[in-house]
Amino acid sequence: MSTPSTPDWQTVCDLNDLQPGQFLEFRIQQPIRDPGDMPLTGFAFLEGDEPLAYLNQCPHLGVELNWMPGRFMDSGNLFIQCATHGALFKPGTGECITGPCMGEYLIPLDVRIESGEIQIRAPR
Ligand code: FES
Repeated sequence: MSTPSTPDWQTVCDLNDLQPGQFLEFRIQQPIRDPGDMPLTGFAFLEGDEPLAYLNQCPHLGVELNWMPGRFMDSGNLFIQCATHGALFKPGTGECITGPCMGEYLIPLDVRIESGEIQIRAPR
């Protein structure tokens, strides 16, 4: 049963457009609170069959994680890797397991599937 959309959910893509191993980046629609605010970005991917999304922001320095569009994984394709200092994060939990922010976490975004679309909700 579908639930009505609320303004704080935003569509990222159709569920069928996100393939295993693919990372999809998106800009998070948010009200501007301060003229100096940088736009927030996030990324979504499939963990098994489940779509997950995180803020694209390393807990170490707050910079974006990826070094190229859509490239988030380490060379072994096991962990999300920060391109700046190489921190590694578990895809399923966002926990940093090695690097300067070890023990910290990526910020998860709420994810839901609505009418065949993957939707996310910005952190509050
Ligand atoms: S900025 Fe990501 S590990 Fe340093």
